[in-house]
Amino acid sequence: MSDRDLARAASEARNMAYAPYSKFRVGAALLLEDGSIMTAANLENASFGLSVCAERNLAARAIHAHRRDWVKLAIATDAEGFIPPCGACLQVIREFVEDIEILLVNNRGETEGTRLSDLLPKPFTDFPS
Ligand code: THU
Repeated sequence: MSDRDLARAASEARNMAYAPYSKFRVGAALLLEDGSIMTAANLENASFGLSVCAERNLAARAIHAHRRDWVKLAIATDAEGFIPPCGACLQVIREFVEDIEILLVNNRGETEGTRLSDLLPKPFTDFPS
């Protein structure tokens, strides 16, 4: 599975976005250890605060399928630049992996590589007892 294939899967997942309010489509693709890919997109609601980001939909999907063997993530948007996941999504990703490579994909299918630990250097991990 090449980065190119994973980026393409994220770009294609963008087509599944339900984003009539922001019109900002986000597609996310997760590479698993056996080479398979899971995807998800953002899902908005007329009650705006109920909208769910692509990355969190993807995490829910993977965990629901008992897949914790996350290898690499790709996030595609319609923007010209390389848009990282929001802080909330970084924190949710961190719940399931200590670190992971993240490919940011722009509207031309170009990629920029980064890591969860670079985007979220100080995650919340210690639940106060
Ligand atoms: N969005 C994501 O899907 N992922 C992010 O990391 C940030 C934002 C979505 C939520 C909403 O549907 C739209 O982008 C605009 O904020």
